[in-house]
Amino acid sequence: MNLIGVVFLGLAVPSIFVNAATKDWWETASIYQIYPRSFKDSNGDGIGDLKGITEMLPYLKEIGVDVTWLSPIFKSPMADFGYDISDFFDIQPEYGTLQDFDNLIARAKEVGVKVLLDLVPNHSSDENEWFIKSLNKEQGYESFYVWHPGYPDPKNSTNRLPPSNWISEFRFSAWTWREERQEFYLHQFLYKQPDFNYRNPAVVQQMKDIMTFWLKRGIDGFRIDAVPHLFEVEPDRDGVYPDEPLSGETDDPNSYNYLKHIYTFDQPETIDMVYQWRQVVDDFQKQNGGDTRILLTEAYSPLNVLMQYYGNATMNGSHIPFNFHLITELNETSKAPDFERVINEWMNAMPAGRTANWVLGNHDQRRVASRYGVEKIDLLNMLLMILPGVAVNYNGEEIGMTDVWISWNDTVDPEACNTDPEHYEAVSRDVARTPFQWDDGTDAGFSTGSHTWLPIGLNYKQVNVETERKYVRSYLNTYKRAKELRHNTKTFQDGDFKMVAINENVFGIERSLQNQDTFVMVANVGSRLERVNLGSLENSLDVMEVVLSSDKSPRRIGDVIRASEFILLPNEALYLRPKA
Ligand code: NOJ
Repeated sequence: MNLIGVVFLGLAVPSIFVNAATKDWWETASIYQIYPRSFKDSNGDGIGDLKGITEMLPYLKEIGVDVTWLSPIFKSPMADFGYDISDFFDIQPEYGTLQDFDNLIARAKEVGVKVLLDLVPNHSSDENEWFIKSLNKEQGYESFYVWHPGYPDPKNSTNRLPPSNWISEFRFSAWTWREERQEFYLHQFLYKQPDFNYRNPAVVQQMKDIMTFWLKRGIDGFRIDAVPHLFEVEPDRDGVYPDEPLSGETDDPNSYNYLKHIYTFDQPETIDMVYQWRQVVDDFQKQNGGDTRILLTEAYSPLNVLMQYYGNATMNGSHIPFNFHLITELNETSKAPDFERVINEWMNAMPAGRTANWVLGNHDQRRVASRYGVEKIDLLNMLLMILPGVAVNYNGEEIGMTDVWISWNDTVDPEACNTDPEHYEAVSRDVARTPFQWDDGTDAGFSTGSHTWLPIGLNYKQVNVETERKYVRSYLNTYKRAKELRHNTKTFQDGDFKMVAINENVFGIERSLQNQDTFVMVANVGSRLERVNLGSLENSLDVMEVVLSSDKSPRRIGDVIRASEFILLPNEALYLRPKA
């Protein structure tokens, strides 16, 4: 009997079958998020740009990236660092020009890396011409955004009260008054980010036109921002928007968490909008040929809602509804059964024929090395690469970049700036957005300028690409080796998947495929040494070979272990296969 069959036997874990039919290019893809402002500065202004990204595309190939998604590169006053777009059809001058963009796409095709852009459909900048037109009630734009006159203030006749108690994600009322129009507009994020009105068909069409514009320029799809916020409940017959109930989670009336967002988040119409966008990319491919163009959707929504994003029996939806559970459900205190539960939950919830995905980090979250601890960097990258489906990394995770402490005075993230010196650290996203660390020279090789828009991480002398290339067991090389196995091994691509907690601290993952080597990952997430038995007594003589080991392991590639009894050090992770 196959050793691994025995390992997991008796633990009553359902075997989850991973479709072995021919897969489309994206179904086993490694996706890498680039935060353009911080990736590579080509002109010494301390801000990353498109030429910088273009220059570094071969690096993406070197680390086995199939497709990169770029955070917004469009014209923007940068109130939310590009998530406030003033012109959806042009490039932010700090980042370059449309010509630079075309060059980037051309180079990406040469190198063999696909490119996705960030579509921000929920809102624009208040400096967008559409908003200005709407403010002035210009014909065709009157209801491009969500406007409401609010109510007289009984206590102060010169004041108006907002239409409802809704609160913005970045604190304070989600309604802002404009004298010009004598009305409030809705913004679920900053006041500089007015929400589009998705009940207006012209808005829906506008967004589709934006998609087509960029698809024509040669991109491979979109990451779509803030999808659950698209719709708000409709006002009643008297034009009244209902208040949202208190959540009971906090006493702070300005905090987003003060309310339960039952009227502004995950409204049922959202799902249909995602299906419509899918139609746009599918139609584009039908008409223009080429590989499948894909959608990645950002929604921190409950599992049952995310599953609807995939599509239903008759409609396709998002190819990749981001699975953020490695970020939101697990951290440095998680035990092996927590990993098992969280990962199997997604696998078991997925509708038949859909593809799993796993996101380790992004520009809104603390860095994975800081959430889980630096000693688990290799373990997590190895976990990501052996899970079935799509793996999503944020730039810098492959070299183990950590959060960078930034003083209140240097803080620029609007979410943090909306708090105060005492509270900003709990929410600041700047910590994970600092410049990418390329080498141990000036500005970590990110820029030649005298000042960078955010400070460089203090550890850049050790934690950088150039240095890590030189050490066999660096984070970078372990990541690359895991990626190679993922790319070049049929079992990683198509194999069945099983995951179990072997004890409180050790989990095991098995990938197996008929007539192919079985691969096992075993990892100790605890802080003490663990004696592990992978097999039953009858099979204790089975011998396995180390294919890859984490930095916390004394074992080397090719070392042999007895599956029936071996020791795992804290944070040690191994890829194993039966010894031939
Ligand atoms: C989600 C993005 O990831 C985040 O960075 C941004 O602030 C909000 N959406 C608003 O667009």
